[in-house]
Amino acid sequence: MSGIRTIVAGVGAYLPERIVTNAEMAKLVDTSDDWIVERTGITQRHIAADGEYTSDLAIAAGRRAIADAGIDASEVDMIIVATATPDETFPATAVKVQAGLGITKGAAFDIQAVCSGFVYGLSVADNLIRGGMSKTLLLIGAETFSRILDWEDRTTCVLFGDGAGAVVLKGEQGPGNRGIIASKLRSDGTKHDLLYVDGGPSTTQTTGKLRMRGKDVFKHAVNNLSDIVQEVFDGTDLSPSDIDWIVPHQANRRILDATAKKLGVDPAKVVVTVQDHGNTSAASVPLALERAVRDGRIKRGDLVLLEAMGGGFTWGASLVRW
Ligand code: ACO
Repeated sequence: MSGIRTIVAGVGAYLPERIVTNAEMAKLVDTSDDWIVERTGITQRHIAADGEYTSDLAIAAGRRAIADAGIDASEVDMIIVATATPDETFPATAVKVQAGLGITKGAAFDIQAVCSGFVYGLSVADNLIRGGMSKTLLLIGAETFSRILDWEDRTTCVLFGDGAGAVVLKGEQGPGNRGIIASKLRSDGTKHDLLYVDGGPSTTQTTGKLRMRGKDVFKHAVNNLSDIVQEVFDGTDLSPSDIDWIVPHQANRRILDATAKKLGVDPAKVVVTVQDHGNTSAASVPLALERAVRDGRIKRGDLVLLEAMGGGFTWGASLVRW
């Protein structure tokens, strides 16, 4: 595994057309715009239309990333979709995306690490590329969490939304320092009961609904995320003070602020988009990444830290020289 670096060659995003504001949520459950904004920073979420599936969102975001990379879809030799809300129990949503993009070569598979799925995918993709298995890989985080929410539970339904974000990753050789520098992944299965879906093919033969003990998740999120960020720098000659941009999982504005504070990183360096789409699970990191690349904040040469935590618990971080 030497000489090849995994670079981000293109970014893309897609949010379903329908926007649901906090005021609309207050018509469904006993909540208010003030409560949601004060506790989470969220002002609205996008909800997929009837008949619009996770694969549709993924294909739209994937197409945009492929266009941004300036390549033809036929150059993609591997597709990874990070999702906890696949179209079907099987086959993998990634193979539907492969077909939807008209790609007939290579391989496609899903990764299930809930909100950490994109960061897990980045690490797996980096190893596939550096190991020579893939030259041009499409990594997508895509979710329709609206389909697994309990719309009568105000403690969870106000927090989540649907969306997709994608990156084209390519192997690059030769001089330069662009690319993924390091990644760290963690999980702790003993925390299952704090955040899970109460159904599945093997247990209930139903899809189930999301259940969460929010206060407990919050505490673990801040501690786990600041620990993993410190760890991802181990073995590099960099430190958190070198970070130009943090692109975190967009779950809750307060988690983002508390984590930045714990790390001693200027909050102005944290990309925040949670207000516009709520928690979109595996889609949230690439959605935020796309925004910051598109609006010119993230520039060539910047040191970008991606981090996420989600159900499982799973958590992880990647350090990228843009
Ligand atoms: N509207 C109005 N009131 C509400 C709502 C709502 N939507 N939801 C809960 N409340 C009430 C509660 O019933 C409670 O009322 P009580 O005091 O009469 O019992 C009160 O608000 C306070 O509830 P808490 O749960 O203590 O509120 P908290 O300040 O912890 O905020 C929240 C809740 C927003 C869920 C917070 O704990 C959180 O963000 N946790 C992290 C969860 C998360 O982001 N998970 C995403 C997946 S994991 C990840 O991505 C990191």
